[in-house]
Amino acid sequence: MTFFSVAPLLLFAADENLNVFDTVSPPAHSIRKIFILVLFISAAIFIFVEGAIVYCIFHFRERSRPTTVEPAQLYGSKPVEVAWTVAPLLVVFILFLVVARIIAEVKISKPPDNALHVVVVGHQWWWEYRYVDPEYNFITANELHVPVDRPIWFELKSADVVHSFWFPRLNGKMDVVPGRTNLTWFLVDKEKPGIYLGQCTEYCGTQHANMILRMEAEAPEVFQEWASNQRRPAVDAPFVREGRQVFLENACMNCHTVRGTPAKGTFGPDLTHLISRETLGSALIAFQQKDAQGNWKPIVNKDGVSVLARWIDDPQKIKPGCWMPDMKLDTRQRDLIVKYLETLK
Ligand code: CUA
Repeated sequence: MTFFSVAPLLLFAADENLNVFDTVSPPAHSIRKIFILVLFISAAIFIFVEGAIVYCIFHFRERSRPTTVEPAQLYGSKPVEVAWTVAPLLVVFILFLVVARIIAEVKISKPPDNALHVVVVGHQWWWEYRYVDPEYNFITANELHVPVDRPIWFELKSADVVHSFWFPRLNGKMDVVPGRTNLTWFLVDKEKPGIYLGQCTEYCGTQHANMILRMEAEAPEVFQEWASNQRRPAVDAPFVREGRQVFLENACMNCHTVRGTPAKGTFGPDLTHLISRETLGSALIAFQQKDAQGNWKPIVNKDGVSVLARWIDDPQKIKPGCWMPDMKLDTRQRDLIVKYLETLK
């Protein structure tokens, strides 16, 4: 149990961060600039107002020597009134102009040239990614892959409630609303490949906090290699036919797709290339790690049960409230399914 509760923290403890000041993409650069500008203007106003208050408190405090002379009573002062009307107007006007320019930079209405198109579908509580360009044309889940130095154009849709798609270092928050399509984009700076994390930022139910976004930005060749593997139908290894059968005979196939098999469910993540991912439950917990040769190896707990097997046993223990139920499989059935899933590279 402890393992499961610390795992998400471990994922976040990597050098990937959610720092909005450490941006790596044009929309986020623009937002950072305006954030800093507003911060400076607010700080200047704060220092001016607080300074005036502190000055008045000390300068006009009641002195120890008694005074009978009333200070001069002023009624209205044109210069002062003009000043405190014009100064805020000027500040608001400057901010308006800057915001209008930044919005034009961040919110563009059609895809940039050469953009990679990804349809994002928010589900309670995971992300579906459809690579819709004809040369790709596949669906995956939870772990987005993109090439660096190429614009990525997102169409955001929801399967159920309102979610929000936000990688703090890459783009501004954009809501994901049922019944409509919102648009957003980013472009990862050429020198900044790596893993980026984000968060659903619109409360969407029990597991809102664990609806994590995870993206790997890669060199174009690495991305192409990943994409051409994703395009293939699932591996159909003869030695796991029994497990495949158990998978297809249980309700697994009503919710999950494994391309090339009768499993065509769409309520849950596409499992066609599950083993090309590192995490389960929308980046909640790592279930594989790479060995020295760079091959994926399942993470196995002290009791000899793998994280994947634990998840299948009872997802509610790892992600309480998620829609995947405990299927009440016996250990033999579970292990057969795990063996089968582990071939889906
Ligand atoms: Cu999805 Cu919050």
